[in-house]
Amino acid sequence: MDLALNNKIILVTGSSKGIGFGIAKSFLEEGSTVIINGRDEKNINRAEKKLINKFNSKRVYKFLGDINTKSVLSNLYQFIEKKFQKLDHLVCNVGNGQSVSLLQENDSEFKRMLDINLMTAVNCVTKFIPMIQPSLKNEDFPSITFVSSICGVEAIGCPIAYASAKAALISYSKNLSFPLGKKGIRVNSVSPGNIMFEGSTWDGKMKIDPIKTNQIIENNVPLRCFGSIKDIGNAVIFLASKRAKFINGANLIIDGGQTRT
Ligand SMILES: NC(=O)c1ccc[n+]([C@@H]2O[C@H](COP(=O)([O-])OP(=O)(O)OC[C@H]3O[C@@H](n4cnc5c(N)ncnc54)[C@H](OP(=O)(O)O)[C@@H]3O)[C@@H](O)[C@H]2O)c1
Repeated sequence: MDLALNNKIILVTGSSKGIGFGIAKSFLEEGSTVIINGRDEKNINRAEKKLINKFNSKRVYKFLGDINTKSVLSNLYQFIEKKFQKLDHLVCNVGNGQSVSLLQENDSEFKRMLDINLMTAVNCVTKFIPMIQPSLKNEDFPSITFVSSICGVEAIGCPIAYASAKAALISYSKNLSFPLGKKGIRVNSVSPGNIMFEGSTWDGKMKIDPIKTNQIIENNVPLRCFGSIKDIGNAVIFLASKRAKFINGANLIIDGGQTRT
């Protein structure tokens, strides 16, 4: 299936490891040029090296910095504008679910979770919209994809402030898809379930108590397995591609059937 993503310029925020790295790799496999991002220099250098070894170094770019900081966002904007003069697809992946125990949330914890999981994406969209040029002629729409979570869809026992922020992100995506859809920019979100990769939360749980962790998956996921970063990458490249040209305002749940709504 040709997704026609070659020669497209893609920014994936928070992509030096984990799901974001998997998304970046999936775009590179389709021939896109990808800007990866992260805060830790070692992480991003390691990611860049891995990707350059596998793909053409002229298609892999790195941008070090905390995307939650306005000045960093401005520098990133200038970097992309100078190098490419446009952005075809924006993937807002930065997020984190590590929060306090249930009912221990206070104002500052809620604000922290909203900053990381919602406002980072909002600020990114606001900044990059001028650089995303719609082309209504051939329906090869540029797009924005947000990485939310099944925690934002259903009550599954995740930290409440995290779940609330991810639910808000899905709502932001849906609401944005209307005005931006009219301009010829498609907007969607993906909601991953339990994703396993080296160094992930689930990897940590598996190392501490493999029996209990496997039991959680057996009991809650009909397909009785974890998802991979490739599963999320596949979904995101599809949503960005011409094959998804009529998909706008969707939230694609990728969880092996765990959610029931
Ligand atoms: N893992 C799961 O099972 C799962 C399930 C559902 C949804 N999600 C969502 O998927 C997304 C990715 O999760 P993940 O598990 O892959 O996370 P992760 O392993 O912690 O990776 C996060 C990536 O983002 C970078 N990053 C974090 N904060 C940043 C910031 N402020 N500015 C720039 N880069 C930043 C990290 O690098 P540095 O630390 O070097 O900055 C890293 O590259 C999140 O939105 C998460 O909520 C994850």
